[in-house]
Amino acid sequence: MKKRAKVAVLISGRGSNMAALVYAAKADDCPYEIVLVASNDPAASGLKLAEAEGIDTFAHPHKGLKRAEHDQIIHEAVTSAGAEYIALAGYMRILSDDFVSKWQDRMLNIHPSLLPKYKGLDTYQRALDAGDTHAGCSVHLVTPELDDGPVLEQTAVAILPGDTATLLAGRVLIAEHQLYASTLAKYVTREANPDWILSEVRKRALALEETYERPSFGTPGWRVGSEKTGKYFAYFSQRHFGETGTSVFVKTSGLDEQGALLDADPDLYFAPKFYGKSGWIAIRLDTGATDWGHVADCLKKSWRMVAPKRLTRMMDIADNF
Ligand code: GRF
Repeated sequence: MKKRAKVAVLISGRGSNMAALVYAAKADDCPYEIVLVASNDPAASGLKLAEAEGIDTFAHPHKGLKRAEHDQIIHEAVTSAGAEYIALAGYMRILSDDFVSKWQDRMLNIHPSLLPKYKGLDTYQRALDAGDTHAGCSVHLVTPELDDGPVLEQTAVAILPGDTATLLAGRVLIAEHQLYASTLAKYVTREANPDWILSEVRKRALALEETYERPSFGTPGWRVGSEKTGKYFAYFSQRHFGETGTSVFVKTSGLDEQGALLDADPDLYFAPKFYGKSGWIAIRLDTGATDWGHVADCLKKSWRMVAPKRLTRMMDIADNF
């Protein structure tokens, strides 16, 4: 069994979503474990369930504390439990920007609506009043704006004739329990998922000026310049041409730089066989510790080597200044 991701769950009340995560984590192949259940309310009934399941709990009331002070207490509890991720599950606190930024890309929330519809409270009644055919739930990454971060997954739940907010909430909750457990599992293993890795490379390649994607021998590649005369500056490789693992191929300035990189970090780089002695280098993206800033830099350097002069001229001037 691979190392499981350590997750802290923050609750304020019933904690049924927390319970869904706890029970999902009992499966042998679940990629996460719940290391702490914490609350801003010592009377939250979910805490008793977590305790009975042998999970460490922590509670600290927010009354009389500044928001940032309370967040810091929770942050310390979560960090000392060794958590790598936070799952908010009915945590009825607005979080300080500082706390959110400390957990950027590592904090998820579940919200009972099909975001971006119906942020905030009273989501079921608002869906009913709008005459929607479906309500639902969303799991999203947490950003400073309430219920606003990128949506990871959603489940739509049909609205039935004669539905009330209470009836609808009950069915949405069933969907929530399925959705949170499975989305969290996918999220904590994303770095081993070639589709996710590809989308991260694509985002960075297409952020460069005048680039577009064109497949090359069945693998995605990125070019700079016009559709006709553009040149490739990167290729995505997943077991491509017999290479193992997921990687991106970029250009270096030549064999000297390629050799130096291979010597400096043989676990990160390898020479793609198919490209022979051309100075292209492969960067492994499935080590579980990808430095995406570094990948972006390598893409940019490669882009610059093949981009038309009119695009690089200003950069060259700035360099020589
Ligand atoms: C859920 O409906 C969740 O979507 C929302 O708060 C509620 C928490 O319920 N964020 P529970 O405490 O998980 O039972």
